[in-house]
Amino acid sequence: MKRKVIIDCDPGIDDALALILAIKSNELDILGITIVSGNVPALQGAKNAKKILKLLGREEIKIYVGEEYPLVRKLVTAEDTHGLDGLGETNYTFNEDLIDYGGVDFILEKAKEGDVSIIALGPLTNLAKAIEKDKEAFNSLEEIVSMGGAFKSHGNCSPVAEFNYWVDPEAVKVVLDNLEIPFTMVGLDVTREVVLTPNYIELINQIGGNIGRFVVDITRFYVDFHWKQERTLGCVINDPLAVAYFIDRSLCKGFTSYMDIVTDGIAIGQTVVDVANFYRKKHNVRVLTDVNSKEFMKYFLNILFEDYKEEIEKIVDNN
Ligand code: BDR
Ligand code: CA
Repeated sequence: MKRKVIIDCDPGIDDALALILAIKSNELDILGITIVSGNVPALQGAKNAKKILKLLGREEIKIYVGEEYPLVRKLVTAEDTHGLDGLGETNYTFNEDLIDYGGVDFILEKAKEGDVSIIALGPLTNLAKAIEKDKEAFNSLEEIVSMGGAFKSHGNCSPVAEFNYWVDPEAVKVVLDNLEIPFTMVGLDVTREVVLTPNYIELINQIGGNIGRFVVDITRFYVDFHWKQERTLGCVINDPLAVAYFIDRSLCKGFTSYMDIVTDGIAIGQTVVDVANFYRKKHNVRVLTDVNSKEFMKYFLNILFEDYKEEIEKIVDNN
């Protein structure tokens, strides 16, 4: 039986790749997509999610806009990384029909039905709001897999903070302090290992088709950003790893621990993982530390381009 999930996201170039993976995998019963402000304001994120559904011919999947601002601080978006439209300034057009709101209520309503999990690919504002509204209902979710934070890896928007958790650290704190269900942090320690290299992008370019063209188009801006920012070629694709891990636990290894987050000062947004059990507190997270990046890449590319198994196998093995 397919597991029931809500994908909470802020599309976002890598969110777009994650949505394509989740939908095309055919492994998940996607109850809906909730949108949070992060890479771009939530309304723009919802438009981007709609474009992806249109591309995949899956416009029946419902999209709900959730929180438009972090719990207490001003919204800081990431158009420098994802482009003004959040999809690498590709400005794909789509049929702009009504966008639904009520993302937080949708999460709670579905949580109450049971056996529902959340894959969270953006800031945790929607999840924190849901807890503030109805903690008991929230804790009837099955589990949460969240892309965000870092254990030993350095930050990507400050020396110590990862973007999703840095945008709304108070929300992360609300979630961590009130959780009674399994929570996995798919942080930079593992997502940094998942790089769409120029080789893979050229493979996707050669494969072409609707999806291939879309992926090459939206990642162009992201690749340019990586070159300007850190002189690397290719781009780190964080969010699809959370989806892949949700489906296949053998892709990553980790450990459980107590974790807290810094909400003020120079280290704002930093996740503090009590790996040596100093605080003697109940474990509230699973922290991922290792990823089989070749297996992930094979899985990701095979789902997107199912007719190219042999080529994908060879190119990933030799990458
Ligand atoms: C995370 O931040 C966003 O820019 C990406 O979409 C990803 O979810 C990586 O730090
Ligand atoms: Ca994201």
